Amino acid sequence: MAIRDILIVPNPVLKQVSKPVERVDDETRALMDDMLETMYAAPGIGLAAIQVGIPLRIIVMDLAGQDEEPAPRYFINPEILEDVEELLPWEEGCLSVPDYYEDVERPRRVKIRYLDYHGKDVVEWAEELYAVCIQHEMDHLNGVLFIDHLSRLKRQRAIRKVQKAEREKALDAAV
Ligand code: NI
Repeated sequence: MAIRDILIVPNPVLKQVSKPVERVDDETRALMDDMLETMYAAPGIGLAAIQVGIPLRIIVMDLAGQDEEPAPRYFINPEILEDVEELLPWEEGCLSVPDYYEDVERPRRVKIRYLDYHGKDVVEWAEELYAVCIQHEMDHLNGVLFIDHLSRLKRQRAIRKVQKAEREKALDAAV
């Protein structure tokens, strides 16, 4: 396994639409293993393949609390089959938009279908944090970031904040 570099805004690769995985094989699993390790190291609770520059419809996630055993989840070619009208506001963040958090409203429950780590077809309802996270990650597969749900002003402010922090990091590294 290896930790990969996470792309951050405004990298245009993040706007790409990812392609479906044609076959779940050892190469797919090796990528998911790397993604999980990268996500844990960040640390974060969800990561889409495009965030490490791979335009495939793959997501990894772990929603276990700090005192709980790790509970990795893997989603290949996920789809939303059904959702509910009721919206849930949740303060979201993203490894591609470091240190920026803002409320986004999404359906509280979504019925999803995906292939798991072994390529098995799964259909289930996700709710609360799970629903928020899978919708956030599935947006990535379509080139959409959580800041794209915000006003233009807030989005520009978020990107400027990230760019400023990156410049400062680069300067620190140069000294
Ligand atoms: Ni994200």
